[in-house]
Amino acid sequence: MTTPLRLGIAGLGTVGTGVVRIVRQKAELLAARAGRPVTISAVSARTRDKDRGVSLSEYAWEDDPVALATRDDVDIFIELMGGPDGPAKAATEAAIAAGKDVVTANKAMLAYHGHALALAAEAAGCVIRFEAAVAGGIPVVKTLTEGLAANEITRVMGVMNGTCNYILTRMQATGQGYNALFEEADRLGYLEADPNLDVGGIDAGHKLALLASVAFGTEVDFDGVTLEGIETVTLDDIRRAADLGYRIKLLGVAQMTGRGLEQRMSPCLVPADSPLGQLEGGTNMVVIEGDQVEQVILRGPGAGMGPTASAVMADVIEIARGTRLSTFGQPATSLVASTRAASATPARYYLRMALRDKPGALAKVATCLGEAGVSIDRMRQYRHDDTTAPVLIVTHKTTRDALDAALNGIGRLDELAGDTVALRIEAP
Ligand SMILES: NC(=O)c1ccc[n+]([C@@H]2O[C@H](COP(=O)([O-])OP(=O)(O)OC[C@H]3O[C@@H](n4cnc5c(N)ncnc54)[C@H](OP(=O)(O)O)[C@@H]3O)[C@@H](O)[C@H]2O)c1
Repeated sequence: MTTPLRLGIAGLGTVGTGVVRIVRQKAELLAARAGRPVTISAVSARTRDKDRGVSLSEYAWEDDPVALATRDDVDIFIELMGGPDGPAKAATEAAIAAGKDVVTANKAMLAYHGHALALAAEAAGCVIRFEAAVAGGIPVVKTLTEGLAANEITRVMGVMNGTCNYILTRMQATGQGYNALFEEADRLGYLEADPNLDVGGIDAGHKLALLASVAFGTEVDFDGVTLEGIETVTLDDIRRAADLGYRIKLLGVAQMTGRGLEQRMSPCLVPADSPLGQLEGGTNMVVIEGDQVEQVILRGPGAGMGPTASAVMADVIEIARGTRLSTFGQPATSLVASTRAASATPARYYLRMALRDKPGALAKVATCLGEAGVSIDRMRQYRHDDTTAPVLIVTHKTTRDALDAALNGIGRLDELAGDTVALRIEAP
C-alpha cells in the first residue's frame, strides 16, 4: 500500500467544503490519478458546530489554523480562509516553517505577500500552488507555467471577476441600471462581503498581478495595477457602445512593453463579435498571447464550489505526483522587480459627450482633438433632446496623454454640457 498524502484544511466555507466533498466522493479516482490515496487528517474553521452539509466527524478538529498547519499528520496545508493577512498568512507561514507544502485559493494574500511567501517556501524546500486563486476552475496558472513554458508571453488579458461581468451583461440584456443590478447580484449572493473588492476591480486586480508575475517572471506587484471599477459604467454607455459594435467589460490587461510592465484593470470596450465580447454572465475568460503559440483563449467558471475545489484538488494531485514547481513558474530568487510603465500603450478610445445645440460645436471638438494630435476614426451625433445632443467619437490609436490634452481643451468649451466619458478600446 502506498503512503497516503494527508491534507489539513483550514476554511470550510464554499471552497473548503467543496474540497472535502471531492476527497470523500472521489477517493478512487484521486488515488488512481495521484498514484497514492489522498486523505484528510484535520480541519479548521471559526465555528465548530456549524452544519456544513458534509460529514467531518472522521477528521481531527483544530480551532487554531496555525496548529492545524503544523500537525505531524499533515503533508499539505490547504488554506481556504481568505484575507490578505490574519490567520491565512500566519498559518501559511507556519506551514512553510514546518516544512509543509501549501495549496491556497487566496489571491489577496498572494497579491500582497506572494513574493515573500514564495521565497520562504523555496528556501524551506516547500511548494505553494494557487491554481484556484485565479479564475476559479480555469487552469490558467498551469497553462502559463507548464503548457506555454517555452513562450515569451507578450500579453495576458481577460475577464476575471464573474460578478462584474454578470452585472454588465445584465445591464445590456435587461436595460436596467447599475444600481438595480448591483442589488440583484447582492440578493443572489454573488458579491463579496466587501462589494468593493468585486465592483472596484480589486479582486480581479489581485488575480491580474499574480498572472503577470507568472507570465513575465516578475515579482508580484499589485500596487502597480491601475484600478478602475465598474461603478461609473452607465446604461447609456453600454447602449451607445453596442450601437458602435462593442461591449463594455471589466478587462484586466498585463503587458510587457519597452517602457516597463503595464497592468490595468478597467472598464474597456471590446468588439461585440470577439470571444471576450461574447462572454456572458458570471463566466471568466483569459486570453494569453505568446511568441510561439500566438493566442490561447481559456473560458470557464471563475468561481463556485465545484470549479474552485476542482482547481485546489488539481494542485493537490500535482504535488502527490511528485511535481514540484516554483510558485510563480521560476525560482522566486530569479524573479525581477518590474519597472512600472509610466503610461499605457496607445489605443483607440471611445468618447461620449453631450453638446449644446450651437452652430460649430462639433467642429470645435474636432479642433481640440486635432490640436492634441488625436485623429477621429468615427463620429456619430444623435438627435438633440431639448438642448443637447449626444455625440460619440471613436479615435484612432492615440496615447492617453494626447487624449487627456484633448479632453482638457474640450472641457473648456462652452458648447459642452457635462463631463466627457472616455473608455479605452482594447484590441482582442
Ligand atoms: N467562493 C469562490 O467561488 C472562490 C473562488 C476562487 C477563490 N476563492 C478564495 O477561496 C478562499 C475561501 O473562499 P470561500 O468562498 O470558501 O470563503 P467562505 O465561504 O467565506 O469560507 C471561509 C472559511 O474560512 C473560515 N475562517 C474564516 N476566518 C477564520 C479564522 N480566523 N480561523 C479559522 N477559520 C476561519 C470560515 O469559518 P466559519 O465557516 O466557521 O465561519 C469559513 O469556513 C478565499 O481566499 C477566496 O478568495 C473563492
